[in-house]
Parts: sequence; structure tokens; C-alpha cells
Amino acid sequence: MKKSNLRLLIALVFFVVSHGISAKTEIKNLVTEYLTNPVGIDIIKPRLSWQLFSTETNVMQSAYEIRMASSSNNLIKGKDLIWSSGKILSDQSVNIEYNGPELQSKQRVYWQVRIWDQKGKVSKWSQPAFWEMGLLQTTDWKAKWISANEDKTDSPLPCPYFRKQFSTAKTIQSARIYVTSLGLYQLFLNGEKVSNDLFSPGWTSYNKRLQYQTYDVTSLLKNENAIGAILGDGWYRGRIGWARNKNYYGNKLALLLQLEIKYSDGSAETIISDENWKTSTGPILASGIYDGETYDARLEKKGWSTSTFDDNQWNSVIILDHSKDMLVASQSNPVQGTIEIKPIAIITTPKGETVLDMGQNMTGWLRMKVKGEQGNKVSLSFGEVLDKEGNFYRDNMRSAKTTDTYILQGDEEETFEPHFTFHGFRFVKLIDYPGTPQLDDFTGVVIHSDMQPTGSFSCSDSLINQLQHNIQWGQRGNFLDIPTDCPQRDERLGWTGDAQVFSMTAAYNFNVAPFFTKWSKDIAADQHPDGKIPHVIPDVMLGREGGSTAWADASVIIPWTVYQVYGDKRILEDQYESMKAWVEFMKSQSNDDSLWTKGFHFGDWLAFATTWSDYPGATTEKDLIANAYFYYSTQLLSKAAKVIGKTDDVQKYEALCNKIKEAFNKEYVTPNGRLVSHTQTAYVLALAFGLLPDELQTKATEYFANDVRRFGHLTTGFVGTPLLCHTLSATGHDDLAFMLLTRKDYPSWLYPVTQGATTIWERWDGQKPDGSFQDVGMNSFNHYAYGAIGEWLYSYVAGLQIDPENAGYKHFNLCPHIGGGLTNAKAEFHSMYGTILSAWTKEGETFIYNIKIPANTTATIELPLAKANKVVMNNKELIQSKNNGLKEDTDKVIVNLGSGNYTFKYPIKAVK
Ligand code: BGC
Repeated sequence: MKKSNLRLLIALVFFVVSHGISAKTEIKNLVTEYLTNPVGIDIIKPRLSWQLFSTETNVMQSAYEIRMASSSNNLIKGKDLIWSSGKILSDQSVNIEYNGPELQSKQRVYWQVRIWDQKGKVSKWSQPAFWEMGLLQTTDWKAKWISANEDKTDSPLPCPYFRKQFSTAKTIQSARIYVTSLGLYQLFLNGEKVSNDLFSPGWTSYNKRLQYQTYDVTSLLKNENAIGAILGDGWYRGRIGWARNKNYYGNKLALLLQLEIKYSDGSAETIISDENWKTSTGPILASGIYDGETYDARLEKKGWSTSTFDDNQWNSVIILDHSKDMLVASQSNPVQGTIEIKPIAIITTPKGETVLDMGQNMTGWLRMKVKGEQGNKVSLSFGEVLDKEGNFYRDNMRSAKTTDTYILQGDEEETFEPHFTFHGFRFVKLIDYPGTPQLDDFTGVVIHSDMQPTGSFSCSDSLINQLQHNIQWGQRGNFLDIPTDCPQRDERLGWTGDAQVFSMTAAYNFNVAPFFTKWSKDIAADQHPDGKIPHVIPDVMLGREGGSTAWADASVIIPWTVYQVYGDKRILEDQYESMKAWVEFMKSQSNDDSLWTKGFHFGDWLAFATTWSDYPGATTEKDLIANAYFYYSTQLLSKAAKVIGKTDDVQKYEALCNKIKEAFNKEYVTPNGRLVSHTQTAYVLALAFGLLPDELQTKATEYFANDVRRFGHLTTGFVGTPLLCHTLSATGHDDLAFMLLTRKDYPSWLYPVTQGATTIWERWDGQKPDGSFQDVGMNSFNHYAYGAIGEWLYSYVAGLQIDPENAGYKHFNLCPHIGGGLTNAKAEFHSMYGTILSAWTKEGETFIYNIKIPANTTATIELPLAKANKVVMNNKELIQSKNNGLKEDTDKVIVNLGSGNYTFKYPIKAVK
């Protein structure tokens, strides 16, 4: 090394030491409101999160400093700062509220952060991140609602096209489009798609909350420009639900668009949707969510969204007098095409039909390449399963036509994909496809809300791995801007109960914070004045139906889940009044003793039913369920009140809990701990929600376990199933929980897997062993509710568990449960702090357990069947390591650890 270099190195080391910079901790993954560099948000105090990465163990943040500037250059130099937090003594690195000067419409803020670790060493500043505000005031909207002058108002009508031509003379510095629609829109600028987002502006309770999107279009603008938009009926005026067949929100589609251009010379220009736009129709003759799309390629208008197009034949638009008061910025992850899959086979069925097998039940559509004569008509009909003869089957779609039709223009090869429809399918029947179809002519486009994947689970049993695959695909198929029950039949609605039972499993698989935050706002928006919650959100039942126990409780449980998983207190603050109103509604329905016996309830939907003469099935009294959930939601409400400092309510609702509990025990529990509905679901609710007095726990647990043993299978429906294995494990019955998990006959989770399922079925026996189907009236093959077992796979089998007292994984538990003949299980979860790993292997009599604890968190580890003096941690005897709160229990050893990677090894007795 040259002398001068050596001197430089010494100087650098001196600098690092004297400035206390810990080179080992890096700050990465900066997000604003859970999103990376979001553009167009309207949250006036956005929350910021970051992650610490370190090669050291036991790393904690002791302080942080955030600084902000209006350019990334200034930020890096620390010049002209908009705001600096100063050094804040805090170990919080998730959801830190911006606390600087009031943010303005369209303002872009660059930010970075540095932290001090537990030894007081300061990190380097992170790389800059940014967010940009949208239009914060209604008056920021200069654009007008424009619509086509359609002579009929009854959809389906051809999709209207809109265009506007304009020039820009100067050099452009930046340009944004703010856009929304009544109905769905697709947007083009100079012939290019403005974004890959689908089904924009999303589905909300449109007349109360309508989302707009913001796009950075700087790079798409030229001197001569044209903007083009196509509108589709979508949920707005297409067929949806069954209360009012069409036009639920209105019968006119409309566009609202504002393009704001900033020139380099400091001037600005705004192009808005107004009377100067032109409209026409094009090739999309009809496009509906349930029924599919009809596209006549002969009617295509080449180059319609470019500046050279001649729009003389196009009509004037009309201005629609529609409010802009309900406009809100998009907050959730947009729907996008996330995966493309190729069909695995082209089948000729016994009926002689040509059917594609995609190999996976998926939600989205088929992109098709086709070559033929002008006017040839090809139809694609979508189905989920083949019947027992191997024929294409779609009776379970009910009235949904789920068919796309393409009429060829007769060019070279043509490519079709639909615009405003989606299908839930594995099989596609090709009708009148010209020529011989080849696998390569077709691609399945999988669409869903593009949530960040956060979790994976696997184990030594391939059938259970397929179950986990099916759960994740169920979520992909049904998290399409709102949580739907199913993606295929004439339903696809935001059923509250389904979403509620699945919410925690969902939050293991994907980051659902933005998704559920958005949907929760619609729960509150559609809640009735008396606190009743509609069965489906957005409510398309004309506000007539609602208030069912376990369904309406989504209003309390979903915000609570988001708080638990992401440490998000704001959702509790924002939803608090809605949560409280639901609890108050239940209270208003109950008698003086707080017993609730009124109203309509779905009950333990689709529980085990039989045709046996002496046992019709596992019916749990609806009132019992109602009172159990009344208790549970009230308990969560009082916990939420505590988290957000509503002290008076804490006591008020704790007192109400006590009353409900007393009433429950008086009405539904015998002095001997037997429940009046002697079903698995009843015991699960009473035990899991903590409704029973201590002295009856053991007896009730025995009744519960004996029932599981007596049947040798589950008997639960939507309400009992999610908590079934959980409650068995928590009451010391892992053996029974694993028995239920690994059972392959009906009814069980693995029965559909043995039948080739690739998603979760609505019913335990959607397709029977003889190949026949359940009732066509309700037989979806992609319904995630029963997939709620996923939570138990992550949290018990792999052992990666939230600590309910330390929301957001700031501290968590790692406590694997062994059983089911499994020789390994592994879960990984990308928490807000970083990746958590919990992976165990049983090699003969040796248990090997690998874990990862991210920086700025701690964990309590329970080593199953361990003896303290036999455990080796990272090649050292565990008992030699200090300060880890080592405890020995009869069947486990407990230690507390800080961040780092650890491997434990110890001998265990034989466990099956
Ligand atoms: C849906 C369900 C829903 C139920 C109400 C069905 O039609 O598909 O999943 O929860 O109705 O019980």
C-alpha cells in the first residue's frame, strides 16, 4: 500500500471511531404509508417506516433522526431542509408520523433517516426516499366530469372512448395526471398505456368515497399529444350483486381528468376533461364483470389515442353534473397482472369440446393469439372444474355468463385480451377457434391487488405444502381491490365474514395493511346510522341487509388484525367510531342482562351436515355464536381503546364484557362445563375467546377434545374452522390438531387436495369422491374462508407467532409445535422490521431449530421437548450464554433473545 493511501485509511478509521459511526448498521427499505415512494397520497400526516440491517447481534435502535427536503440533492447535502425531527430518543422504526409543516397539494418530499443503536453509535444516513401529495382540496380539481351522450341508459352498452389533442411548446420539467371515473377506466397517452393498473379507480362505496389515481407522465409527453380513455361499466353500472341488477351507483359513465404540466421555465399548464373532448365507441361492444367481454376487432380505431388520429367523426361529450366532494386519493395497492401462466394441456373432452387446462384455478383472463378470416367469431368460456366424465363444467357459475367473444378483423395474427372483466377459472372452452389451437397461443394473466408478498410456509408433507399453495392462490384470486368471497359466479362481493376469518392468514401471506385500510374505510362509510354493518362491503344490497354475527364483526376484527401485524395505531383511531358503533348496535339489540338473541345471523355457515337419521349435523345455535362474538368484539374494542388512550371507554367496555360473559355462562354453559350446543364450534368460541370461568376450562376442553375424537374429523363451518386447530393446540391437544390437519378423507383440509384442488373450496365436499358435485347454487372452487387454517400453520406448526401484547412484531414468539409425522417445517415472514425465520428439522432424535430475529426486535423462543442442559445454541451450551432469561418448563425451555441468527440443537424423545 502506498504511504498516502495508508494515511488516508488511518484518517478514515480515526474519523469513524471519533464520530462513533457504526458501519455495521444500515438503514434500508424506507416506506411511506407502507408504500415505496408513493405518488399522489392525501394523508396529511404520512407515516414513515424503515428497517435496520446489521451484521451484529442484539441490535436495537435507541434514537432516530429524520430529515426532509424538496430535492434529493439538497437532502443529501442537508441543505434547505423542509423539516428535521432532530435526534429523537425512541426505538420506534415503524409508522413514525410526519410532524413538519403542513403539506400542500402536489408537494413532493424527499426524506432520509439515520439511527443510533443501543450502544449510541450513529448509522450513516439512509438513501433518500420520497412521497408526493395528491390534490388535497376539492377546489384543486378544475376538471369537469365528461360523459358520452348515450341514447340508452341500460347497460351493457359499447364502452365509450374519449380523446383530447393538445400541443406543448416548451421544455417539460414534470407532468402529472390526476384521474378517476364513474365506472372503470383505462388511460392512454400518445398511444401508450399510462400505467399497468387494472380496474381503476377500484371499488369503493362510490357515492361516498371515490378514489382518484395520480400518474407521473413526464416521459410520455411530446410536442403534439393526445390523451385517450376507455370507460367500462365495472361495478359502477354493470351487473353486480342481486339487489338491483344493474346501475347500482348510477347509469352514466364519466371521466374526470386533470393533466398538470410544469415547464422548465417555471410556467405551468393544465389540461382538463371538459367540453372540448371528443367521444365515440370502439370495438368493445359489451364488457361486464360477471358476463365477460365482446370485442369486435373490425371496429378498432387504429391510433385513436395518438395526435395524428382524425377525430372529425367523433361526437362532442356532455358535461355531467356530478359532485367531486367524495374524491379521495388511492391508498391501496393497485390491481395488476402479476403472474402469467401457460396452459398445461389442450383436451378434447368426451363431448368433443376443445378445452384448455391452465393447471391452476386462477383469477384474471386468457390472452389469446388467433389467425383467421375477417368476421370469424371465437368465444372463450370459463370454468373451474371438469365433471366426473371429464366434460367442461360451469353450472356453478350460476347466472354469470363468464364468456369472452372476439370477432376477428382478419389480419395477420391477432391478439385479444379483455379490458373490464375477469374470470375465476382453470379450464377454458374454446368455441369456434379457427385452425388448430396450440398451447403457445394462450396465456393466463393472473390479476389481483399487487400486495407485497410477505410470508411463506413449507414442511415435509407435500399435501400440506399444496394446501398452503391453495391458500395463497385463494388469496390472489380474491383480493381484487376488495376481499371477495369468490371470483367466478354472479357474486364476487366483499363478504365481511369471509374476510374477517381469513384476515390473519392473509396478513402472513401478503402485506395487507393498505388493502384492509382502504376496505375498512368503506366498512365505516356503509355502516348504518344505528351501527349495523352490511353483509357485504361495499354494500350493494340497498342498505337492507346486515348485522349478522361473525360477519359484521369484521368492522372490529380487521382493524385489530392490522394493528396486531403492523403495529398500526392509526387504523384503530380512524375506525374507532365505527368499531364502537357496531358494539353499541349489539348492545342495543341485547336485553338488560346483555344477552343478544335477536336479528338475522348466518351462523356456522356450511358446517358439517349429514343425512344420518340420528345426527343431522353440527348445528351451533346462532344465538350462542352471536353472544360469543359480542363478547369478543367488545373485548377487542376495549383493548383498542387502551391502545389509543380512550381511557373511559376501556373501563366501560371491560364492564360490558363482564356482563356478556356472565350472561353467556348463565344461558349456554351447564355447571359442569358443557355447552348447550355440544359442537366443536361452540367449544372453540367459548375457549378461544376466553368466555369460560377458570374452573370450567378443563371440563369444557375435555368435552371439546372428546367430540373431535368421537368424530375423528372436524364438524365446523366458516365460524369454527379458523380457530379449531388453534384452540386444540392452545389447550394441549396438538395430537388432535395434527390429526385434523393430516386427515385426507372428507371432511378435511386435505380432502380437496387429494382431489387435485389448486385453490380452497367453498365446501368441504365441493366435488365428491365419486366425482359428482355439491349443490350448483353454491359451489365455488375458489373461496378462501376455510384457508384460515393458514394462520395455525405459520403460528403453531412453524411457530412464528405474534406476541399480542407487543403489536407489530416488535417482540414476538417463536414456538414450534411438533406432530403429524412432520420432519420439518419452515416459515418466513417479512415483518415491518425485517425478515423473521422459524425453521425446524427433526433428524432422528435430534431437533435442529434455525431462527432469525430482525434488528430492533426481540423474541421469546420456546424450544419444544427440550432440557436446558442439553441445548446447544450457535455451537455453545445454552446454559453458558448470559442474560437470556432462560427458563425450564416441564416440556420446554424458554429463552429471550435479541436480533441475530441462531441455531439450536438438542436431543428429543420420539414424537410422532
Ligand atoms: C358467500 C359467502 C358468504 C355467504 C353468507 C355466500 O353466498 O359466497 O362466502 O359469507 O354467502 O353466508
